[in-house]
Amino acid sequence: MLLSKIFWLTLLARPLQTSTASLLRSVSADSPDAGREQVRLSTGWRFWRSENIPDGIIYERRSDASNESLLELKPWILPMGNAFINDPEDWHDQPDSNLDIDIEYTRSGFDDSGWENVTIPHDWAIRLPFLTGSRPVIPTSMGNLPVHGVGWYRKQLDLSAEDARKKIYLDVDGAMAYPMVWVNGQLAGGWPFGYNSFRVDITPHIKTGESNILAIRAENPAGRFSRWYPGAGLYRNVWLTKVSPVHVAHWGTFISSREVSDASAVVDLSVTVENRAESNAEVLVLTEVFEFNTQSQNIGRSVAKFEPAKLEISATDGKASFNGSVTIRGPHLWGPPPAHQPNLYAAVTRVYQGKRLVDEYETKFGIRSLEFHPDNGLLVNGQKVYLQGVNQHHDLGPLGAAFNMRAARRQLEMLRDLGANAIRMSHNPPAPELLELTDEMGFLVINEIFDSWEESKTPLDYSLIFQDWREPDLRAFIRRDRNHPSVIVWSYGNEVKEQSSDDERAAEIAIYLRNICHAEDPTRPTSTSMHFSSPNMTLPTTQDVISLNYQGEGMRYGPAYEHITGGNHKTPQYQAYHDAFPGKLIMGSEVASSLSTRGAFLFPVTPYNSAPVNDSYGGNSKTREISAYELYTADAGSSADRIFLTQDEKPFVSGGFVWTGWDYLGEPYKYSSLHTGGWGIIDLAGFKKERFWLYQSRWRPDLKLAHIIPHWNWPGREGEVTPVHVFSAADEAELFLNGQSQGRLKKGTEEYRFRWDDVKYEPGELYVQTYKGGSEWAADKVQTTLEAYSLHLSADRGHVASDGDDLVFVTMEVVDAEGKVVPKSNNTAIFSVSGPGEIVATTNGNPGDFTAFTSLERRAFNGLALAIVRSYAGASGELKVRATSEGLQGTEISIEV
Ligand code: GAL
Repeated sequence: MLLSKIFWLTLLARPLQTSTASLLRSVSADSPDAGREQVRLSTGWRFWRSENIPDGIIYERRSDASNESLLELKPWILPMGNAFINDPEDWHDQPDSNLDIDIEYTRSGFDDSGWENVTIPHDWAIRLPFLTGSRPVIPTSMGNLPVHGVGWYRKQLDLSAEDARKKIYLDVDGAMAYPMVWVNGQLAGGWPFGYNSFRVDITPHIKTGESNILAIRAENPAGRFSRWYPGAGLYRNVWLTKVSPVHVAHWGTFISSREVSDASAVVDLSVTVENRAESNAEVLVLTEVFEFNTQSQNIGRSVAKFEPAKLEISATDGKASFNGSVTIRGPHLWGPPPAHQPNLYAAVTRVYQGKRLVDEYETKFGIRSLEFHPDNGLLVNGQKVYLQGVNQHHDLGPLGAAFNMRAARRQLEMLRDLGANAIRMSHNPPAPELLELTDEMGFLVINEIFDSWEESKTPLDYSLIFQDWREPDLRAFIRRDRNHPSVIVWSYGNEVKEQSSDDERAAEIAIYLRNICHAEDPTRPTSTSMHFSSPNMTLPTTQDVISLNYQGEGMRYGPAYEHITGGNHKTPQYQAYHDAFPGKLIMGSEVASSLSTRGAFLFPVTPYNSAPVNDSYGGNSKTREISAYELYTADAGSSADRIFLTQDEKPFVSGGFVWTGWDYLGEPYKYSSLHTGGWGIIDLAGFKKERFWLYQSRWRPDLKLAHIIPHWNWPGREGEVTPVHVFSAADEAELFLNGQSQGRLKKGTEEYRFRWDDVKYEPGELYVQTYKGGSEWAADKVQTTLEAYSLHLSADRGHVASDGDDLVFVTMEVVDAEGKVVPKSNNTAIFSVSGPGEIVATTNGNPGDFTAFTSLERRAFNGLALAIVRSYAGASGELKVRATSEGLQGTEISIEV
């Protein structure tokens, strides 16, 4: 014991001042001259963008910007990575010469009054019109929005005289891309990879007691640098962190749990404290563990204390670490609902110099055990959890890449309702807040960092900087995210090209990256997703767990796919992998890649349970729609039905991650003039595609659900075969058309839907009654509607917080005189709002609609459109959202601010 028990109690009896609201991470210690303060820098920014390079600088000359006159700043940026490079031999020296450049945008005297006022997070491209012309700089594969160019952000920072005693850091959660930070005209740092978070020490550049100019430059290449919509600019939060010179280091805690049971668990903690002061420091580090209430975001009961630790830390940049363990009796374990609850704890670390509290640092964590079993799959706290996963890209549809907590939560809430319990962050690090949400809501996460290594997938992608940044990027990524209980696997790659070009090289790189992961975090397995490698190749031998994209079901495989030539053909591979690696868990890191356009049904319907989309079956190249019978796929994909069959046949597989949960911007398939590909179970607006109920019936088998497709408005199809399919967990179903039975069906062992493929259309009513185990289960009906008559509005919530961030999602439906949504209606609506707020975006989920997301005039798409509403910061009162449309009755809805 380093301290008497009485002293220990006195110290911890002080009230905790930890405010844990996720978007205001402000922790203040009770010592007047010290303490940690973290302020989000969201308002007061000025922004300007140029399509070309306006300032004569670049991180490194590339093929799209090879102009010799550009000054390369790489030598000044590379040393930022040193803190995340293990071997000092590999550190980058600061250039001897000072950076001899004067950029007017970085100077305090520069007149930015003509620049745009923006709040951060900000995505400069999402509010602009889509690019037109036959060969736009940014193609539809990247979302067709003007992400290219250089964006400058300026903000005044006022620092008090007291701040002179502190270290001042700028924490950037992510900026697209090649961000560089200037303070008062001097370059302070940067970090090229647009998806990683980074910290810049701005202390040497600031003037305390006066105002400072912070200028951040972001740049995206003019050309293909991504396979999807990347976003542009300061699209994640930016923070100012002030700490006493002696403080817990950046991402300086690591907490994990072992020997976990309901009775007890051992929690291991490591804390690194940094001394940036002029003299050596002797500190006392105390860490106490509290229950954490995710509803109130407050700390609860204290449950354990680590042994106090004394550390001696040498002056100017010394670091010292403490490692300790405690046993927690009767822990509230973390795990995914419904079988588990996502309980969290908070470890509060206090650093004392003498009697002075100099830092207080909170780390949220969860106690859980994970077992990756080759035959039983994933066990969480000893119980099997089948991975019902989805892949998610980082964009938030019409809000672009600009992170928004409410929009992200809405995505997860709908995925939870779907029955999903796992998310793969494809293919790059997410916003830090997204992992706070997955912790709180109990999603299992594959956290992924790279889509390419040395070999490029698009000419200007990460491969350009892989060699210099792979180590610092990977270490920074893991240090940031390793305390999240939701993260279960680190993925350091996705379908890398090296798989097919050079298997040995792929394995070498994999081992290199894997070893870094293991060194940073020995508690989690790692992986890279493989769609090409075979069990007899070298790359798979390097894997902790086997992550297969599409190989499990086979690629371009099955009766409907036989005509496809070329490409990566595969027969089903789960068994072959299981045989070759009997000790390794297997998962489908990408499954399905099926496609559909919400509300679009095309005829004829394939007789198979899975078919590649083409103009004969499932597709229409004129309207660019893909049929919502939910049987159609990319050439290498499989329908949900076929995935379910494979999963039932291979129970040793731990589950799969559907490509994708939500539609995302970019990567159209089959038809090129689309701004989204239609891979999602949920469309870009957040409207459910029919697949939603197909997955729900599988993933939530206790839900009394029956869902009929298609809609029943088919004027002109009278007497023609119009198949009717029903999604339900029931085992029998009887369909009636206008009261006439179309037959009672029993679901076969290899069937995941009920199909009446010979129904002849007549207007009226379809009704299905389903049965399970002989008893009535659920029913559904679909009726032919009358003509469009009026608009109807509904909101996801009746109130909105006036914090400047919160959003309300308002759905508009085109309905008939009886209130039924008219399926194919595409009336144009005009949205307006009165009261203290604004409409920030509209959309309808139609992949082929290139109306700017800011437009208040929006066509319904197959009956629906969406308006996203935000209140003004600090406002209160009532917001009225209105929708009108020529020839239809308009409507309005009230939202309380
Ligand atoms: C995979 C790839 C994903 C996406 C998907 C579309 O091969 O990993 O990023 O492109 O195909 O089917």
